[in-house]
Amino acid sequence: MPETSLAVLAVVGSLHRDSVTRTVIRRAVQQLAADGCTIDVLDFEKEPLALYNPDTAHDLSGYAELQARVERADVILLGSPDYHGSVSGAIKNFLDHFWSEFAGKLFATIVASHEKGLTATDHLRTVARQCYAWTLPYGVSFTEDEDVKDGEIVSETLKQRLQMLVRDVRVYGELLGRQRRADLAGNEPGFLAKHRE
Ligand SMILES: Cc1cc2nc3c(=O)[nH]c(=O)nc-3n(C[C@H](O)[C@H](O)[C@H](O)COP(=O)(O)O)c2cc1C
Repeated sequence: MPETSLAVLAVVGSLHRDSVTRTVIRRAVQQLAADGCTIDVLDFEKEPLALYNPDTAHDLSGYAELQARVERADVILLGSPDYHGSVSGAIKNFLDHFWSEFAGKLFATIVASHEKGLTATDHLRTVARQCYAWTLPYGVSFTEDEDVKDGEIVSETLKQRLQMLVRDVRVYGELLGRQRRADLAGNEPGFLAKHRE
């Protein structure tokens, strides 16, 4: 396996104490770490994030540190439960706090849903597009009590989907990260031109 210095920020978008989203994100980050990625987990149950207010967001205690964590990441791995066919407020609130920090980065998504999570996945893709981020061409979704039971992943299908996601995050995250850094350092008129210092 090639050496990687890929930095992944994994975001747990459920405040639920026994969250199945957290279980699956944890499994994905274990595999990414085993592949040599640098992992940072942002879990709002442990690190509450105030509701985004454009007037005060930058003054929040810990905001600069959180912004630096988002900036350091090459890939943002987003986990959300399906709430009313969309994403949780917790994940949307995180996404509301940033945009230019996401530009040119890869988003990978995992949705806990009883209905395949297609609309929630699409809503995450929409946010990525609005923020000039890339997404993998698919999302992983799963169902509690079928795929995850008592804090364990019990379905082979979900395990295989996660293996695929982990591999693609590593490979496409590297490719896009390299090009993003080159574009930020270069002078061509691509979409990252406006993000140069
Ligand atoms: C407020 C609320 C709304 C929900 N809406 C949906 C929904 O529209 N479709 C669905 O499949 N599941 C829905 N669910 C179920 C959750 O997506 C599901 O229980 C998920 O596994 C919870 O993940 P978590 O344990 O990580 O929080 C909803 C749950 C809550 C609490």
